[in-house]
Amino acid sequence: MKIAPSLLSADFARLGEEVRAIDLAGADYIHIDVMDGHFVPNLTIGAPVVRALRPHTAKTLDVHLMVEPVDPLIESFAKAGSDIITVHAEATRHLDRTLQLIKSFGKKAGVALNPATPETVIAYVLDRLDLVLVMSVNPGFGGQDFLPVALDKVRRLRGLVASRPIEIEVDGGVEPKTAAELKEAGADVLVAGSAIFHSADYAANIKALR
Ligand code: DX5
Ligand code: ZN
Repeated sequence: MKIAPSLLSADFARLGEEVRAIDLAGADYIHIDVMDGHFVPNLTIGAPVVRALRPHTAKTLDVHLMVEPVDPLIESFAKAGSDIITVHAEATRHLDRTLQLIKSFGKKAGVALNPATPETVIAYVLDRLDLVLVMSVNPGFGGQDFLPVALDKVRRLRGLVASRPIEIEVDGGVEPKTAAELKEAGADVLVAGSAIFHSADYAANIKALR
């Protein structure tokens, strides 16, 4: 199981240090939550912050764009050093075109699905996808409770993805207990903010999830 700590719960005054700490603690991906105060009711960080963090780790920068419209921002996040760029299916009218745009910069492409969005929205773009991000909370804030409906969605996605090299990532309210259920359901990557940053021993917290 890969673990992707979400910087949303890190100390924003020491982001570079926090990235180095979770890298050392065994993070697989560094999950970066980009919120626009419009698609989601919160504002976080932009491409200049991703660019500033890039030299602090060689690990995969997993950039989760909660932004609408999203197409005009993809180039700047690609050039800032993102490795995976994930967009919300609900935030683009032309999902196939948006995924082509991400690919045109040589980046891995992901689609995020809000809790109420059925997994079937990706059925005809599977060949353009590297990752599906199942939201297990309504996006916008860290520290919310896990919505169990995500388990069923992960199981269905496992069938839809079949043998394609597409990772299934889950984001929101993940803690050790839910991690075990998500593994069983077929998740490949778990995002966690609170469960990793709530106490100082990041390595132990990552290990508990894994
Ligand atoms: C929510 C974000 C998540 C969030 C996860 O909109 O996409 O990545 O930070 O935080 P926890 O693990 O605290 O739910
Ligand atoms: Zn996220």
